[in-house]
Amino acid sequence: MSTGVFKDIGKLSFDYVPERLPHREEQLRKLRIMFEPVMTGQFSQNVLLVGSIGTGKTVTSKSFCTELALGAAREGRKIDWAVVNCRQRNSEVSTLLKMINYFDPNFPDRGFSSQELRKVLRRHIEKRQSHCIFILDEVDSLFRSGASDLVYFLSRLSEESDTLKHRVSLILISQRYVFDFLDMPSLSTFKRTNVIEFGKYTKDQLFDILADRTELALVSGSADEEVLSMIAEIASEWGDARFAIELLEKSGMLANEQMSPVITLEDVRAAKAATYSYVTEERISGLNRQQMLILLGTARVLRNRAFAETSEVERAYRIACEEYGEKPRAHTQFYTHVRELAGSGLIDLRSKRGSSSGTTGMITLLDIPADIMASRLEEILSGRRRKVQ
Ligand SMILES: Nc1ncnc2c1ncn2[C@@H]1O[C@H](COP(=O)(O)OP(=O)(O)OP(=O)(O)O)[C@@H](O)[C@H]1O
Ligand SMILES: [Mg+2]
Repeated sequence: MSTGVFKDIGKLSFDYVPERLPHREEQLRKLRIMFEPVMTGQFSQNVLLVGSIGTGKTVTSKSFCTELALGAAREGRKIDWAVVNCRQRNSEVSTLLKMINYFDPNFPDRGFSSQELRKVLRRHIEKRQSHCIFILDEVDSLFRSGASDLVYFLSRLSEESDTLKHRVSLILISQRYVFDFLDMPSLSTFKRTNVIEFGKYTKDQLFDILADRTELALVSGSADEEVLSMIAEIASEWGDARFAIELLEKSGMLANEQMSPVITLEDVRAAKAATYSYVTEERISGLNRQQMLILLGTARVLRNRAFAETSEVERAYRIACEEYGEKPRAHTQFYTHVRELAGSGLIDLRSKRGSSSGTTGMITLLDIPADIMASRLEEILSGRRRKVQ
């Protein structure tokens, strides 16, 4: 429906799968190569897609499976595929239920055990005359909640009996490399799993993605290059296409509120300010407790200045650990976490001029007021506020 600057706002929604995915050609090419033997029915495949937030892992997997299923149909073969998000409280049972729901939408959630559900799932797959691909999105939740055995079970399905041979493939998706979580027997199966990496988008890449979406969703001429370039610039801090698209949507809404036929740079700035707290929360919620404590230390040191030395942050981190009853990590581990935080775009880490050691640096918070950051973290760490799920 057309409203103001939008001609089809649905094209900006997070679950819309566009026909073209600029700058994901390489990942799609690798997927096609890996799944070629699957198409001949001689093989099943397990693959892991890894990359940080908003790098197109979910959308690429959906786009790929759609393409694969169409290709198979043309050759008279059937591919069933389902995306299952594993991030739920009781991950194992709820993941199985969601998988079963793909085959039987009315299957009741009536306190079945994981073992019972596994049997039901197996029977459903056996009944199909197809190859099933399960996309286990945010699969790290399964590993974290101790349900790695479920992934192991699923990965073995296509090897265990003649009826299921070469019939089940898995596409695992995670923001982090997950196999470190696995215990020994399952590890050996997964060591051979193919990994496809999704890098953060650069400003230019985000610009291309935005340009495509603008054409699909906005009235021609309502967002010029300068506007898209500014949005791309802001989102490139994190390399996150979701953030870029949300900023475009929010900017458009602000233009509409002012009855303006075009989005201005001022709209983008205001949209950035508005989107800010939500994005921060989402990023923080992806951190582990140690990283949160380091970030809290950083935010406290930076309350009234721009840069902090890593040694100052480390001291503040140790105090925070004491406050929240956590054991502080040794320096090397601390520094590894600092680098991870820098990788996630929450802080910027620069080596200190004149420093010869690789472990002293200057830290700054990117774009987020230290006060707001500190109080959010204090709320989460003390359990006054649940992490955003
Ligand atoms: N190359 C691309 N071209 C067009 N749109 C893209 C591209 N990459 C990502 N997007 C869009 O950006 C948004 C985020 O992508 P997606 O949900 O796939 O990210 P993700 O890597 O799964 O992130 P997360 O780890 O947070 O789940 C979606 O709206 C998606 O359609
Ligand atoms: Mg995703």
